[in-house]
Amino acid sequence: MNKIIIAIDGYSATGKSTLAKGLSKKLNYIYIDSGAMYRSIALYALKNNLTHPHINRPTLIQSLKTLDIQFVFNPATYSSETLLNGENIEKDIRTPLVSDVVSKISSIKEIRQFLVEKQKEYGKNRGIVMDGRDIGTNVFPDAELKVFVITDMDIRVKRRLDELHSKGIYVTEEEVKKNLEERDDMDIHRKENPLVQAKDAIVIDTTDLDKEQQLEYALKLIDDLKLLKDH
Ligand code: DC
Repeated sequence: MNKIIIAIDGYSATGKSTLAKGLSKKLNYIYIDSGAMYRSIALYALKNNLTHPHINRPTLIQSLKTLDIQFVFNPATYSSETLLNGENIEKDIRTPLVSDVVSKISSIKEIRQFLVEKQKEYGKNRGIVMDGRDIGTNVFPDAELKVFVITDMDIRVKRRLDELHSKGIYVTEEEVKKNLEERDDMDIHRKENPLVQAKDAIVIDTTDLDKEQQLEYALKLIDDLKLLKDH
């Protein structure tokens, strides 16, 4: 059967990664969380004092060539975990500290170029689901299926709070909402590859859909559009 590229874009905490993971499992495709790659660089910058009082762009850009970001599959959780220079940083990249700085990091042109090149490489053999902000518009403009996920803000806040709590990270509803709003604003307004819906993307509103319903909906799309049929 032919293999396709599935690009899933949307705002933070809309359920993109849940849908992407579900699709990759069902189709036996690679899953790449492109946000984790930006988060890895944000964590590196924080750990190396390159964020205060301003982001030290020259040093950070210079350091990029020393950074090796990999994903390893954890069969126990059926999810991929992020490694930075061999160290498992999956939990560290989800902290509010990283969330606060990552939008600034991801607006730096050289960082985007560095990561987009790696992301394109992952899709060389197709058979991949990647989620992020610019996947359908910039990383894989030729993706066979482009999905743009939207969700009501209250639901996004609740989902992000639940996710953080399940990882033992405790923050208030107000803090989560403020961070999401700030990141939305930066993602939409940055100069380099801002978050925009690709013209040929299909919108999925996950506000009233649980994860099984979202997956079912996306699989039906793939079926209806006959994307997996050999030509
Ligand atoms: O999906 P996420 O919240 O883990 O993403 C973290 C940040 O990375 C987010 O604030 C925007 C940025 N990002 C991006 O600019 N482009 C992508 N393809 C993925 C994420």
